[in-house]
Amino acid sequence: MNEAELIKTAKAMVADNKGLLAMDESNPTCNKRFAALGIPQTAEMRRRYREMIVTTPRLKEGVNGAILYDETVRQKLSDGTPFVEAVIDAGIIPGIKVDMGAKELAGFPGEKITAGLDGLRERLSEYSEMGLRFAKWRAVLKIGDSIPTRRCIENNAIVLARYAALCQEAGLVPMVEPEVLMEGKHDLKTCLSVTEQVLHIVFDQLHKQRILAEGMILKPNMILPGSDCSEQSSTDEIAETTVKCLLRCVPASVVGVAFLSGGQSSKLATERLNAMNKKYKPKMPWALVFSFSRALQHPSIDIWNGKEENIEKAQQALHHRVKLNAAACRGEYKPDMEK
Ligand code: 13P
Repeated sequence: MNEAELIKTAKAMVADNKGLLAMDESNPTCNKRFAALGIPQTAEMRRRYREMIVTTPRLKEGVNGAILYDETVRQKLSDGTPFVEAVIDAGIIPGIKVDMGAKELAGFPGEKITAGLDGLRERLSEYSEMGLRFAKWRAVLKIGDSIPTRRCIENNAIVLARYAALCQEAGLVPMVEPEVLMEGKHDLKTCLSVTEQVLHIVFDQLHKQRILAEGMILKPNMILPGSDCSEQSSTDEIAETTVKCLLRCVPASVVGVAFLSGGQSSKLATERLNAMNKKYKPKMPWALVFSFSRALQHPSIDIWNGKEENIEKAQQALHHRVKLNAAACRGEYKPDMEK
């Protein structure tokens, strides 16, 4: 493990109050988004969509890195440039999703375990040769009747730590994503207690399995009431609760925390990230940034809609969203900037 190199990459991923763009939807997820808009669900359309994203002018003004998907890193832009090269040329650090999705956890109805450890060492070595510098793995925890169970959290934490160790061995920065889902009727307090338990168990495993904390990024959920909870919370409450949770659980040696958006609207995700940085920045030992997928890609995917003639407008919308979120990393976002 080259510690200095890992630390350098991790710091660069969250430097200068900029975040990361998640464009790593698996084929089924990307197809689902296309189906909703009537866009053909083909490898070529996914390639065109990703080309629209990575050729967005001045994207690096708001993002330090982009998370790609296996299909994309084997594809090329229309002019023949491989995607990884195009991302690097745009001044952006290329990363990759390496998990194989959340599957049913045998013996634990309603709970999931993430697959993808088999053959991971070999895949990481190939990705490293391709020029990829960091790798993401998502674990999924659902809040419901008596779930998540402690065993499910522990199993996922062990797997996250095994993946993280393999990443660091290969010289890739692990972006560790234990996502507590927003779906459900639970309240803010429940999300806080579950996320707190999850993060404690995850960091315990990361420590036990000798992960270099300075050479990783945490990608957590914000602390939110469930989407079907009758009592929704204010932005200030969410910001305060989320920062409290992170301060309790995330070691100060971790250089960056980059949120997933999890189904929040673009505007709310930005507003909440902004509130955290505006009020609590001096208290936080790590950079607090974004690694949104849906909240960054909307509304540009709607504008693009699979059509060549919409590319420029879609790119403008993406650039705008990215800049708004960079402002939120500085705590300088204002709703009237949405216009
Ligand atoms: P969302 O921001 O759409 O939740 O996606 C983030 C991500 O990378 C999920 O793995």
